[in-house]
Amino acid sequence: MSLTSKTDPYKAGFGPFVSDVYRIPYAYCYRCSYSLQYPSCELSCAHHLEDTFKRIVAADSVAAIVVEPIMGEGGFIVPPIEFLPLLGEICHRHGILLIADEVQTGFGRTGRWFACERYGIEPDLLVTAKSLGGGLPIGAVTGRSEVMDAPVVGSLGGTFAGNPLSCESALAALEVIESQRLLDRAEVLGQRFASRAQAWQSRWPLVGDVRGLGAMQAIELVRSSKTREPAAEQTRLIVRFCYEHGLILLPAGTFSNVIRLLVPLVITDEQFEEGLDVMQAALESVCVHEGQEEKKLFTG
Ligand SMILES: Cc1ncc(COP(=O)(O)O)c(C=O)c1O
Repeated sequence: MSLTSKTDPYKAGFGPFVSDVYRIPYAYCYRCSYSLQYPSCELSCAHHLEDTFKRIVAADSVAAIVVEPIMGEGGFIVPPIEFLPLLGEICHRHGILLIADEVQTGFGRTGRWFACERYGIEPDLLVTAKSLGGGLPIGAVTGRSEVMDAPVVGSLGGTFAGNPLSCESALAALEVIESQRLLDRAEVLGQRFASRAQAWQSRWPLVGDVRGLGAMQAIELVRSSKTREPAAEQTRLIVRFCYEHGLILLPAGTFSNVIRLLVPLVITDEQFEEGLDVMQAALESVCVHEGQEEKKLFTG
């Protein structure tokens, strides 16, 4: 809760939080915090870390940098390919640990076991959960032995640590990911979603951005493709329409205007297409209601 920067609902009304957590803006190119454009920005957001070390917290005092290779709750934000290697390089230069939070990206979602592989980085610690358990509760911290073995033996524990049922479930989930070639399946599902979503984007200005890696895909909804004003209310209506038609979605993003593809990778083609059809009907219903006709008429 200290680490998340999605304040509503995750921090609202809670506290106090752990102090000495600092943030720099993510490489969110669709809404750049510095109003720059990739690639001419030269990854200014990552370089901003050096400035943070001068103005806010000394590099010597920083134990670790925690980063999601693709933002999850933040709205499936895919950073440019150089962003994570650059963070890794800065960490290495200052003796800071790089911790990759792969709770959402991990175990196949992006078409690799871990999203870090797609960026060619090796974090010092890797944090995983969700897909690891195949539905049962389990989380893992994996890392280099000099880090993992540093705490005194027995100092890390908990009621559910090493829970045998969850561990069995995780082993079975890994086996299924391998035997059913779910990494390849993630790519296929992602491509199918992206091509449908791109068609929606060219039809309705409401669909401002389509992005993702593997099956980790999302659409960001905006009130106007020019101003990119977040369309939170329309997102809420779409989620409700889908719910009423048998499809459960969760809004995400800082402005609650992102809809993520969160299907299990074992979904059948029929189920997948059915879900996309419901999403399309929801978009159509909201766009017609909003008076967003076909884009060619709208922008003509
Ligand atoms: C990226 C990310 N990290 C960490 C967490 C927290 O995971 P857990 O509930 O397993 O502690 C979540 C939960 O959604 C998450 O999305």
